[in-house]
Amino acid sequence: MRLLVAGGAGFIGSEFVRQTVQTHPEDSVVVLDKLTYAGNLRNLDAVAGDARFRFAHGDICDADIVGRLAAEVDAIVNFAAESHVDRSLEAPGQFIQTDVYGTFVLLDAARRAEHSCFLQVSTDEVYGDIAVGHSSEADALRPRSPYSASKAGGEMMAWAYRESYGVPVITTRGSNTYGPYQYPEKIIPLFITNAIDDQPLPIYGDGGAVRDYLHVTDHVRGIDTALRRGVPGEDYNIGYGGETNGHQVADLVLGALGKPDTLKQHVRDRLGHDRRYAVDTRKLRALGWAPEVALDEGIRRTAHWYRDNEAWWRPLKSGEFWEFYSRNYQPLSPTRATGP
Ligand code: NAD
Ligand code: TYD
Repeated sequence: MRLLVAGGAGFIGSEFVRQTVQTHPEDSVVVLDKLTYAGNLRNLDAVAGDARFRFAHGDICDADIVGRLAAEVDAIVNFAAESHVDRSLEAPGQFIQTDVYGTFVLLDAARRAEHSCFLQVSTDEVYGDIAVGHSSEADALRPRSPYSASKAGGEMMAWAYRESYGVPVITTRGSNTYGPYQYPEKIIPLFITNAIDDQPLPIYGDGGAVRDYLHVTDHVRGIDTALRRGVPGEDYNIGYGGETNGHQVADLVLGALGKPDTLKQHVRDRLGHDRRYAVDTRKLRALGWAPEVALDEGIRRTAHWYRDNEAWWRPLKSGEFWEFYSRNYQPLSPTRATGP
């Protein structure tokens, strides 16, 4: 397959590119990426010299460049997105632009090029907060943040192109992902890099919100399984199957780095903070996929990767990063001062 990988310079997209080049010698990959604050060409160093890989700098909202690249490939895999919930609460407009409008531009190009597959990388957050049980692919989407609403909007545009024009769309809904090369704003890389510097680990609210943390290699193998063995028109959940709250993430990170418990710090809760996500993954497992990296081992390896690769992340924690950090992280409100 000749693949156009949108957002391939980001965290999960770059792992997809590395795995594809390594495990599918017959495939070629063109990455289209705008290189936002979250995109990083260094994530693609491992494939930079490979003849089957090419990088194009551009925006998925730009129909000209998307149309030209789409004409050269057989399928599109779309990772490109604004991806951080806290930034979506501060400035939702760019999320709608990239995650909804940009997805439309890619779909329209796929329709014209008559591609064999359009894989939309989505998230378990589109199901919204789920108090008990597990979200299955047939469940209604109930997004509750500007980020998850934008991702749901992208999915719905993909459904529209599937139903109206027959574009062979497959959607994956992955759970919270962690591993090497993740921009240090999401909880695990933020906690790891703060802990390395003996800085506080900011836990939102009471630290009880639950996520299903999945290692990036497992997430990408899940996307690859859906792409190659999935049925066009179907949606696939991808998750590890764990339930880990903010406190437990902090404990795992501190344990992996041998740092003290005193680094934990409660801060003001996120607006509209979803309390729990959990997905039913039987549909993807039926295609032969299963996660392989245990959470404690995955966090330990990831913590050690950040410890050993400071040259990758230190330049990212500067300037705009700290401006966002100081706006986003506030002391506990008085009503929560009696909390844990
Ligand atoms: P990321 O923020 O690390 O990377 C996003 C990439 O998209 C960056 O390289 C960025 O430069 C690029 N990009 C952003 N806007 C663009 C535009 N307009 N045109 C071209 N490129 C653009 O994100 P990630 O964590 O790697 O997530 C990748 C995808 O997986 C996203 O669609 C996200 O919604 C989804 N997802 C992420 C997680 C997670 O926990 N990180 C979990 C489930 C699903
Ligand atoms: P995050 O990594 O931002 O992913 P998402 O919001 O997409 O699930 O957050 C994961 C969980 O960790 C979520 O419950 C919010 C919490 N969290 C903190 O407690 N502190 C932090 O600094 C961050 C970024 C997240």
